[in-house]
Amino acid sequence: MQHLTPTTPVVPETMRAITQQRYGSADTWHVARIAPPTIADDEVLVRTHAAGLDRGTWHLMTGKPYALRLVFGLRGPRKNPTPGLDVAGTVVAVGAGVSAFSLGDEVFGISKGSFAEYAAAKASKLAHKPAGLTFEQAAVVPVSSMAAWQAVHDTGRVEPGQRVLVIGASGGVGSYATQLAVSFGAEVTGVASTAKLDLVRSLGAAHVVDYTQEDWSDRGPFDVIIDIAGNPSLSRLRRALTPTGTAVLTGGEEGDQLTGGMGRQLRGLLLSRFVGQRLTGFIPKERGSDLAQVARLIDAGTVVPALDRSYPLTEAATAMRRLEAGEVRGKVAITVAAA
Ligand SMILES: NC(=O)c1ccc[n+]([C@@H]2O[C@H](COP(=O)([O-])OP(=O)(O)OC[C@H]3O[C@@H](n4cnc5c(N)ncnc54)[C@H](OP(=O)(O)O)[C@@H]3O)[C@@H](O)[C@H]2O)c1
Repeated sequence: MQHLTPTTPVVPETMRAITQQRYGSADTWHVARIAPPTIADDEVLVRTHAAGLDRGTWHLMTGKPYALRLVFGLRGPRKNPTPGLDVAGTVVAVGAGVSAFSLGDEVFGISKGSFAEYAAAKASKLAHKPAGLTFEQAAVVPVSSMAAWQAVHDTGRVEPGQRVLVIGASGGVGSYATQLAVSFGAEVTGVASTAKLDLVRSLGAAHVVDYTQEDWSDRGPFDVIIDIAGNPSLSRLRRALTPTGTAVLTGGEEGDQLTGGMGRQLRGLLLSRFVGQRLTGFIPKERGSDLAQVARLIDAGTVVPALDRSYPLTEAATAMRRLEAGEVRGKVAITVAAA
């Protein structure tokens, strides 16, 4: 139930949004006028200034791996016809059960459908936007940095002095994983393609490996591997780890079409029971409290969002095509409405 006060900003009857009826390519995205979302007691309504584009949005656009269609709709994203997870904007309505946020607060986090002028978001998935960031910078933080936090901090348990390998260091998750591991005092080696090695160095990596030229497993042994891309075999990961090292299986776009590579994570967990090394994935959690931890590091200047560039809402499909082509350095944002 929306809690209205005399100062509640007026939300228009329709808003501009990207909508999608069927799974497919970015050609399925169209700009339309639709009704703004209503909010539940535990949600707030955010006037979206900027949205972030991430791989999760690609998965929801294409409906791959197919297993996710069981949750989101068989032929199209019935439950979320407006794409976009990452949001940064201003709170314009507050659910009756929300005390952490007030009207006018500048927030960032994970919403349902951020490629729209208004987006509903659970208060538990939001944090206050760091004052030093633009909305576009803030919009590229939530999904990727939460995954990086859970990989590097919660699962990898990275400690000062450890040797850490980040595979996919130039991407959305990797750009945060690299900076987080460096901030925890690790000596980081970042893996990326030739054109993005300079970006990885600028994120604080002490060493870089060009995966098009060199095998990173020759650079071990590492105490922790944050495995975000390339789907390396478990034996290759083990070869690059110390005898008691940890590999955190975080992602990889080359997994099978049905489950997206869950099998590799399950095999890793099973194998870990019999060897000294830990090969583990994690179930991602959309936690505003994790985002608040990252926000503190952003406030301190320890973590800086790697924003490639931003696109207007009408060019969201162009942004997605660049992501699909592997051209994005870090992340891209979608500017939805002027702040
Ligand atoms: N578990 C979770 O919570 C979670 C959350 C978010 C994302 N993910 C998953 O994590 C993965 C990465 O997401 P992202 O947003 O970081 O994607 P992204 O922005 O597209 O970045 C992909 C990264 O992988 C690198 N890469 C591509 N091919 C590679 C290869 N063969 N060997 C080594 N590195 C390679 C890319 O390097 P270049 O660009 O330099 O080629 C880039 O650094 C996806 O599979 C995504 O679904 C998981």
